[in-house]
Amino acid sequence: MSKNYKIAVIVGSLREESVNRKSAKALGRLAADNLEFNFIEIGDLPLYNEDIDTADAPAPWKRFRKIVSQADAVLFVTPEYNRSVPGVLKNAIDVGSRPYGQSVWEKKPAAIMSVSPGNIGGFGANHHLRQSLVFLDMPILQQPEAYVGGAYDMFDEKGEFQTDRSRDFFQKFIDAFGAWIERFEQ
Ligand code: FNR
Repeated sequence: MSKNYKIAVIVGSLREESVNRKSAKALGRLAADNLEFNFIEIGDLPLYNEDIDTADAPAPWKRFRKIVSQADAVLFVTPEYNRSVPGVLKNAIDVGSRPYGQSVWEKKPAAIMSVSPGNIGGFGANHHLRQSLVFLDMPILQQPEAYVGGAYDMFDEKGEFQTDRSRDFFQKFIDAFGAWIERFEQ
């Protein structure tokens, strides 16, 4: 039987009806039983400021760092804002990367899915995020790349896929991530 893996799921949108959150939830439903999805909130993290990153650092930073450090892997599902990563997600990355030498991201296998109503599926955000994760020494799933476009038509009112094609792609992606995590088991 496969080992169980805890996946920290980080969604780059705070919006109630976020199509990225719907996508992350859909991935969770398709994931193999040994992949445990834990959605991590990032909307309450104060903006990173090195001056207050002391023993008395803000409680939400401490909570966030602890929960990510306990995960076996990290899944990012994010919109694109102005051809890059939303500020709230970049802030979460920065918070997790400090204090210097204590990054919670290091060596954790990761995967990125970008989701947009537009045609290019958040390609810019996906690769800007990839740039940060390379620096943070996270082995990032290479294939399949996941730039999900036309996303407003992807789900019905219950959050279920409208087409088999979309569902099959999500299945392929999450299965590849499961296999990727196993490769990097520590
Ligand atoms: C966007 N949107 C957007 N879409 C895109 O494909 N490329 C982009 O550069 C941008 N830029 C952008 C900036 C800002 C500030 C907002 C609010 C939106 C549109 C975006 O893809 C759309 O609002 C998605 O629905 C956001 O994802 P969630 O919140 O539905 O998960």
